[in-house]
Amino acid sequence: MDDLVRLARTMMVRAYAPYSKFHVGAAVRDEDGGIHGGCNVENASYPEGLCAEAGAIAALVAAGKRRVVECAVIGPGPEIITPCGGCRQKLREFAGEDLKIHLCGPDGIHRTVTLGSLLPMSFGPVHLA
Ligand code: THU
Repeated sequence: MDDLVRLARTMMVRAYAPYSKFHVGAAVRDEDGGIHGGCNVENASYPEGLCAEAGAIAALVAAGKRRVVECAVIGPGPEIITPCGGCRQKLREFAGEDLKIHLCGPDGIHRTVTLGSLLPMSFGPVHLA
């Protein structure tokens, strides 16, 4: 799990957040154990900005993977960071309610929660099957 938090921290350093100045990093582990990272990428046209989790998920899919089995998100703290609503739903596409999400600050993991606790009674791929 250390590798996941380490990658998320590296991603946070690379974030492009000149407007909010709020750097976020994320890392996801795929079904074969590989890890993929992303950072927030803001835009002068504010709504076009991307969240860190979205970048990490895109990297996982681009690597040919289809499942998120573990996730870490890190922010600058001290307030504990949680994935935004949109990112919870994005994670739901590739993970079940049992997905463990490590909520981290610069000093490491603050808390580990499940996707189900962040997004109860979620709508997911099963509904369209
Ligand atoms: N942000 C993320 O990257 N992930 C989240 O789950 C919460 C918010 C980013 C978006 C924006 O660039 C900055 O944090 C402030 O909202």
